[in-house]
Amino acid sequence: MFDGVRDRAAAIIARYPEPRSALLPLLHLVQHVEGHVSRSGIAFCAEALEITTAEVSAVATFYTMYKREPVGRHLVSVCTNTLCAALGGDDIYAAVRERLDGIGHEETSADGSMTIEHAECLAACDLAPVLTVDYEFFDKQTVDSALEIIDALRRGEKPAPTRGAPLTDFRSVELLLAGFFDDPAVGGLDAVAGPSAAEESLRGARLAEERGWTAPSVPDEGSSS
Ligand code: FES
Repeated sequence: MFDGVRDRAAAIIARYPEPRSALLPLLHLVQHVEGHVSRSGIAFCAEALEITTAEVSAVATFYTMYKREPVGRHLVSVCTNTLCAALGGDDIYAAVRERLDGIGHEETSADGSMTIEHAECLAACDLAPVLTVDYEFFDKQTVDSALEIIDALRRGEKPAPTRGAPLTDFRSVELLLAGFFDDPAVGGLDAVAGPSAAEESLRGARLAEERGWTAPSVPDEGSSS
């Protein structure tokens, strides 16, 4: 299954002084190939990096971005951490589940169009409640707007994220996460271009600039104060 990506695996490994340092991007390459990290994917990484399958498994089962079951065409992550939950994230997650016939965390819709998960803080609290599709942000969601996204994905459409690159699909994004930004398979560098900062996130910096506020200087190394 991985014969077609051995050149890419070698390119990943060549980026690092030690082969084992290449494990994280190599696991993303595995997910690009098979949509999750299977036992054979773990064995592929172990062989390529000359480490044990237990060492690969320890990493693959620690980080939530590595999936042990096949992911659908898209991965929908609904933030249900404190701020998003209080502002409607729990309701959004419940409505998304209901729309998809009651599937649960890390389960896939019957048509294979998407896997859903409830996510911890997605680092966009100033735009809560948020969800991501294939890690691209849809900010300031409501139950209705979230269900519109779900329905569009089920129709095979790719709704435009609020920020970030246009949607592709989960496996293509995994190739990006493996570090192949300019690969023709993901559309080249233009495919990852998109607005990344929201006005809400920049407001504090703009206020500081207007008022002439600056951060305290960093003490010299070795200084006791
Ligand atoms: S709590 Fe949802 S982005 Fe931080």
